[in-house]
Amino acid sequence: MRVTINQIKEMEQKGEKIAMLTAYDYPTAKIIDEIGIPLILVGDSLGMVVLGYESTIPVTIEEMLHHTKAVVRGAKQAMVIGDMPFMTYHVSVEDALRNATRFIQEGGAQAVKLEGGITVAEKVRRIVECGIPVMGHIGLTPQSIHQLGGFKVQGKTPEAAARLLKDAQALEQAGAFAIVLETVPAQLASLITQTMSIPTIGIGSGADCDGQVQVISDILGSFTDFVPKHAKQYAKLADIMSNAVAQYFKEVKAGTFPTDKQSYSIDKSVLASLTK
Ligand code: KIV
Repeated sequence: MRVTINQIKEMEQKGEKIAMLTAYDYPTAKIIDEIGIPLILVGDSLGMVVLGYESTIPVTIEEMLHHTKAVVRGAKQAMVIGDMPFMTYHVSVEDALRNATRFIQEGGAQAVKLEGGITVAEKVRRIVECGIPVMGHIGLTPQSIHQLGGFKVQGKTPEAAARLLKDAQALEQAGAFAIVLETVPAQLASLITQTMSIPTIGIGSGADCDGQVQVISDILGSFTDFVPKHAKQYAKLADIMSNAVAQYFKEVKAGTFPTDKQSYSIDKSVLASLTK
C-alpha cells in the first residue's frame, strides 16, 4: 500500500520527521523505496543534475514525464511527486489542470509540486479540487532564478519574511498537503512551521521543519559541478565512478579485460565443423 497524504499528516501530528529525496530513474527509486523513505520527488532539478542544463528552466513536461514513469516503476511504497516544470502551470488554471493531470494519468505520480505562493494559490486550489494532491514550494524557487537574481537565501528582510509567511498561508488555505521551504533562514522556517497546520519540508532551511528533502545527487556526491552549502555528502560516488571507468579503460588498453570469466565458449566440434 502506497504512502498517502493522510499518513504524511499523521507523521507531522506525531512529531515524526518526514524524509523526502529526489529520484530520476528506476534503480535509484528502488533503493530509496526499499529503505522506506515515504516521499520521492521527481524534481525538475533533473535538468541540472542529470540532463546537464544550466538551470531548471529548459526542462520540459515530456522530460519530466519520461523520468516520472521510471521512478514510479521503481517505487512500490513511496508517494511519488512529480515536479511541474517552468510555465506548465503559470498561463492559466486550465493549463495547470491539464498538465497536473498528465503527471497523474501518464506519469503515474500520486501528487504534483509547483513553485510559488499567493500567485499560484488559485491554481493549487483547482488542482486539489480535482482530486490531485499538491505540494507547494516557496523560498528559493529555482524556476524564478532570473527574477531572484541568483541562488540566494530568501526572506531576509522584514518585507520578504512577511511575504513568505503569507505565501505559506495562502498555499495552506488553497489545500496544499505540504510545503517545501527552500533556503529560508532557519529561524524563519521554524516560525512558518509553527504557524502552519500542514507539514513543512525544508531544504537549507534548518532542523525545525517537519521534514527534510535533498537532491539525491548531492547526498551521493554524484553531481559535482556545484555542491550547495545545505547539502551533506554521504558518499563520493563521482570518485568511485571515475576510478572504475579509469580501471576499465586501463584494462581494455592492456588487454587484461575481458578474461575467460567474462567470456562465453562454444563446443570444439562446432568450431571444427567451420574449419573443415
Ligand atoms: O527540483 C527539485 O529537486 C526540488 C527540490 C530541491 C525541492 O524542487
